[in-house]
Amino acid sequence: MTQQRKIHIFDTTLRDGEQSPGASLTPDEKLKIARLLERLNVDVIEAGFPASSPGEMEAVDMIAANVRRPVICGLSRMIPRDIDACRQALERAAKKRLHVFLATSQIHRDFKLKKDKKEILAMAVKNIRYAAQDFKQIEFSPEDASRTEHDFLVQIVRAAIDAGATSINIPDTVGYAIPEEFGDLIHLLVRKNPALGKKVVLSVHCHNDLGLATSNSLAAVLAGANQVECTVNGIGERAGNASLEEIVMTIDTRKDFMHCTTDVKLSEITKASRLVSHLTGMAVQPNKAIVGRNAFWHASGIHQDGVLKKRQTYEIMDPKKIGLSGSQLMLGKLSGKHAFEVRVKKLGFQLAAEELDQAFVRFKKLADKKKYIFDEDLEAILQDEIAKIPETWKLASMKVVSETGKQPSAGISLSYEGQVKEAVSTGDGPVDACYKAIEKIVHSEARLIHYGLQSVTGGKDALGEVLVKLEIGGKEVTGRGTSTDIIEASVRAYLFALNKISANPQRSGDQPSPV
Ligand code: KIV
Ligand code: ZN
Repeated sequence: MTQQRKIHIFDTTLRDGEQSPGASLTPDEKLKIARLLERLNVDVIEAGFPASSPGEMEAVDMIAANVRRPVICGLSRMIPRDIDACRQALERAAKKRLHVFLATSQIHRDFKLKKDKKEILAMAVKNIRYAAQDFKQIEFSPEDASRTEHDFLVQIVRAAIDAGATSINIPDTVGYAIPEEFGDLIHLLVRKNPALGKKVVLSVHCHNDLGLATSNSLAAVLAGANQVECTVNGIGERAGNASLEEIVMTIDTRKDFMHCTTDVKLSEITKASRLVSHLTGMAVQPNKAIVGRNAFWHASGIHQDGVLKKRQTYEIMDPKKIGLSGSQLMLGKLSGKHAFEVRVKKLGFQLAAEELDQAFVRFKKLADKKKYIFDEDLEAILQDEIAKIPETWKLASMKVVSETGKQPSAGISLSYEGQVKEAVSTGDGPVDACYKAIEKIVHSEARLIHYGLQSVTGGKDALGEVLVKLEIGGKEVTGRGTSTDIIEASVRAYLFALNKISANPQRSGDQPSPV
């Protein structure tokens, strides 16, 4: 059998992904994701943008010191100060890469940088040479490459390689390219510089503004690119980046056509998707390819019949391959601790004995209210246990009155350091009344800037999941709550966010994005 061409997976969940409006991660949360990316076996982790904030510097340093197998990469503008910050942040890395970018398209040159081609070229060469004194791996991205004049792109790519760049990344920064066009561009670059995709890594980085990020990346792979930049769940600036799971599963499922392979451990995909969604507070749309809740559910009777006769009639991928258990119905209220523990382990969670006990208590409470407990319900409970933070403010009880024609009201009791505090408030709706009552007790002056509700599973007794984002004293913090009662889930999400702030008052919040 001929050896298949390997495509390197460069994961930028922790850099471009974290630039998603609303996603903000603490250094600890970033390290948790980086460890999972290591288990996923990606080749490169772009851990952050060290010069952008002290929190970023700390996160990249922590990841560099603790995540040893993949190459750890830091992003840098084409200036010595950023390059120096990357050098410092990556000092403890086992394998490191510097990623420098500089815009090359006419619109960016004229309006953003106010520099001509000659100046851009000189700036790139000078700074790549400077970086080459300390870095063996240097990746250069001509930002907005897909809208750059082809002859200038060829010229600057060649100059960057001559100056010391070991990888060239071609970004479709604004998601403007069409797959055929983008594939042709990659062909052109390889024709003009045959070392690309061989001695020099040829990478692509596609944004999803027209929903074409995965297609453009794959067209580039077919044209000779040997690295793809992508993010878990496709999160990223604006409409996001190419999604890791879509890229690797297409390469795997259509190896007959793609004739290449990746080293990604497919069975870790579901876990990675859920952890990223949980920690960023960004829910995955139910019909999202590969990792959406509905991606392997068959609703139509004809489809179900077909799948029961032969799974492949309506399923092109085996859900077990990406780490789903494959089972739909799960535990119920008669299940014992042993069955619970076996299922927890099968889902890939490793909980300490005390965490397992607490999760089991919550499972039993839920099973009293809900006939069937699906894997997704269980994972919601388990994620809560893993991400547990001290419950400074704890919900003791709540009473909500919502009557047609009358203003809703809520009475909330919270326990705080052993004391119970109570307040009553009216509001525009029941959730608003609850939040106002909480504020009367807590006085955090939090401003609710996002509220999202979705059901974790289907059915009338589904577990509701609420994600909120609060702004407190200029910092943003996300909170998540689950319950079969959506008002209670809303209250739990709000308290979760307040408790996060109490536990970690130094949270960096969303940094203004310099890219
Ligand atoms: O989209 C983009 O151009 C980027 C670069 C920094 C690679 O994110
Ligand atoms: Zn980008």
